Amino acid sequence: MSDTAWLEDATIYTLDVKTFYDSDGDGWGDFQGLIEKLEYVDDLGVDCLWIRPFYPSPLRDNGYDVADYYAVDDRLGTLEDFREFTDRAHDRGIRVLTDLVFNHTSIDHEWFQTARRNPESKYRDYYLWAGDVETAYNTFNIFPEHEDGVWSYDEVADAHYFHQFFHHQPDLNVRNPEVREEFHDILRFWLRQGADGFRIDAAHPMLMPKGHDGGTLAEPIELFKQMKRVVSEEQSDAILLAEADDQPELLPYYFGDGEAFDLQFNFVMNAHLTYAIGVGDTWPLHRAHEIVPDVDGIGKWANFLRNHDEWNLLKLPEEAFHHAREAFGEDAGDSWIFERGHRLRLAEIYDNDLDRVAMAHSLLLSLPDVPVLLAGDEIGMGSDPSLREREAVRTPMQWDDSEYAGFSTSEPGDVHNPVIDEGEYSYERVNVADQLNDPGSLLSRVGELVDARSQCPEIVDGIYSVVDVDRDDVWLHRYDHGDNLLVCGHNFADEPREVACAFGPPEDVSTSIVGDGDYRVEGGDLTFELDGCDYLWIRADKWGKRAPEPGEVLALSR
Ligand code: NOJ
Repeated sequence: MSDTAWLEDATIYTLDVKTFYDSDGDGWGDFQGLIEKLEYVDDLGVDCLWIRPFYPSPLRDNGYDVADYYAVDDRLGTLEDFREFTDRAHDRGIRVLTDLVFNHTSIDHEWFQTARRNPESKYRDYYLWAGDVETAYNTFNIFPEHEDGVWSYDEVADAHYFHQFFHHQPDLNVRNPEVREEFHDILRFWLRQGADGFRIDAAHPMLMPKGHDGGTLAEPIELFKQMKRVVSEEQSDAILLAEADDQPELLPYYFGDGEAFDLQFNFVMNAHLTYAIGVGDTWPLHRAHEIVPDVDGIGKWANFLRNHDEWNLLKLPEEAFHHAREAFGEDAGDSWIFERGHRLRLAEIYDNDLDRVAMAHSLLLSLPDVPVLLAGDEIGMGSDPSLREREAVRTPMQWDDSEYAGFSTSEPGDVHNPVIDEGEYSYERVNVADQLNDPGSLLSRVGELVDARSQCPEIVDGIYSVVDVDRDDVWLHRYDHGDNLLVCGHNFADEPREVACAFGPPEDVSTSIVGDGDYRVEGGDLTFELDGCDYLWIRADKWGKRAPEPGEVLALSR
C-alpha cells in the first residue's frame, strides 16, 4: 500500500483561518482559534483540512496575493501557532493541506519590488516583462470585470508585466529554473512545519503561454512532476491537489501518468452536480459522468458542491449555462460575477431548502472519489451581497447567536469581514450551537453522512455504476464489493417517488445505512420509496435474484 493511500478514504473540509474563529478578540480568526475548534471539525468526522492562504498578504485577493511565502500573517498567529495547530490536528488523526499560490505573487512581494527597481537583479527574471505590449503575446484575463488585459505598466520598471489574474498579481516566470527552485524550497519548508500536502492554486494558468513571447515550458507537466518528487522525497505520504479548471479532456494531463498531482478538483462535476440538484433533474449528472475522463490508476478527483469562489458554470452546456444564470440568484442579478458564475452559497442556490442541501451532501458523500466540504455549508450559511465580489461568500463562521455570532468578541468595525446579522441567514437563525444537539438539523445530518461514508468501504474499494431508472428526477447508484452491494438512492423532486430496480437482496439481509427514505424488497426486486429530497443508502450482504457470473457487474433495471 502506498504511503499516500490515506487519500483514498479521506473527507476534506476547507476553511479560512481568518474567518473561522477569533481567539483573541481582534476581529480576525486565528490559528489558536482554529485549535480550539478542532474538536468541532473532528466531531463532524472529517479527516483532512485544506486551509486557505494564511501568509502575509495585502489581501487584495483574500490571501491569494502572497507577500511572503515563509510566514504567517501576524493577525492570524505565528509560525509556532501553525506548528501547534498541525500537531494538535495530527493528534486527532486529521491531516492538513495548505494552499500554495505559485502562479503569481502579490506586487508587494519583495521579489517583485526588487525586480521592478533593479533590472540587473536576479528577481527581474522571476516575472515576465514587455517593453512594447503592441507586439507582445496577448491573451484574456481571468477577471474580465476588473482587468482590461494581461499586461500592466509599472512606472518604476518602465515596463509592462504579465498577469493572468488581477494587476496586483504578477505571474511568476515558471520557465526560470531559479523560480522552480524557490517553489521546491517553499514546499519543503511547509512540510517541515507540519503540512501533509498542498493545494496548488491556479495550476492551469501556471502552464499557459506567458510573457512577451507567449512561451511555455518545453514539457509543462515536468513542473508538477518535479514538485511531486520534491514533496515525496521530503515526506512520502504528502500529496498534491491541483486547482486546474481546464477542459475535461485535458484534465488527465495534470496527473502526469501518476507522477504529478495525486488529486484534482472536479470542476466539471461541480457545475453539473450542484445544478442538477438545483433544477431537480438528473440529466446534468448523467452528462458529467459522460464527460469527466476516467482517471483510474493515475489520480483521483476531489468533488465538491461549492467552494469559496464564484459558482463557476462555464462547464455546463450553453443553454443550461444561460438557464443557471437566470434561475439562481436574485432578480437584481448582483450575484452574477466574472461573466461565469454566482457568488451564492449552497443553501441559497437551493432557496434555503435544507432537505435539498442535506440530499446534496448525501450525494456528494456517496459518490466515488474524495469529497470536499466547505466550512459553513454544513449549517446552511448564506452570503452577504453587500461585500466586494467573492467576499460575499466568505463571511465568518456562525458559531452561536451571541453577539458577533460567537466568532469574535471584537467591535464590528475591526473585523475582516462582518458576520451576517440580518435576514434568513443571520447568525441568530443559522448557527452551530442551535444545530449541534438537534438530531434533525442540517449539521447533524451532514455529520451522520460523513460518518456513514467512513463506514462504507464499498465507496472506496467497490465497483461503482449508475443504475438506470425510469425517472429523470431520481438518481440511483451502486457499488459492488465482493459479496456486498451498496445502493444509494436520491430523490431530486419535491414530491415522493418510488423507483424499482430489477435486482435486490432478500429483505432480511439488507440494512439501511443512512437516510430517511424507505425501501422494500419484493420478489427479489428492490424498490426505493423516497419522499421529496429523501436519500437512502442500503447495504445488502447477499445477492438477490441471481448471483453474478464471475467478473460480471449486475446493473439491471426495469
Ligand atoms: C483560485 C482561488 O480559489 C481564487 O480565490 C483566486 O482568486 C485565484 N485562484 C487566483 O489566485
